[in-house]
Amino acid sequence: MDGIGIRTVFRVLDLNSPMKKTISLKVNGGERSAEVEPRTTLLELVREQFYLTGAKLGCDIQVCGACTLLLDGKPVSACSVLAVDADGCEILTVEGLSDKDGLHPLQEAFMEFGALQCGYCTSGFLLTAKALLDECPQPSERQIKDYLAGNFCRCGCYQEIVQAIKNVVGS
Ligand code: FES
Ligand code: FES
Repeated sequence: MDGIGIRTVFRVLDLNSPMKKTISLKVNGGERSAEVEPRTTLLELVREQFYLTGAKLGCDIQVCGACTLLLDGKPVSACSVLAVDADGCEILTVEGLSDKDGLHPLQEAFMEFGALQCGYCTSGFLLTAKALLDECPQPSERQIKDYLAGNFCRCGCYQEIVQAIKNVVGS
């Protein structure tokens, strides 16, 4: 392939200079904007540009839940959402869960019930649990377990996590 051909391939595949797009979104209640490449994931955006590092990269294929964020109130695997698709949306990360009055009741309960060991999964579990309680303030144990089915804890704290959530809902 000659030089013109190679340049054409690079242009078509967007390999040489990916066109950046400016997006605006609300993150933890504050207006933010950022320049992102088409391939930038929502997880990369919050961790690498906004320095909100609570959400973690685990599997990178939408299986483990370590990267969970709330997008317009719904839990999503941020490893598998493109940042450009979050343009105009509202994002909640674990850093936005507490407020000036202190930790969120779920965070307090996770500590009280020892619902974490290494903590790698904790951000994802907390945000998924928050989405559950927003949707269904009095979930049964079965509903809690079903809703959390997409979140993995390699330290095996499942029982404590369910206990913590049950404590928050008073069951
Ligand atoms: S890192 Fe996104 S689901 Fe596992
Ligand atoms: S506390 Fe270690 S992975 Fe869940």
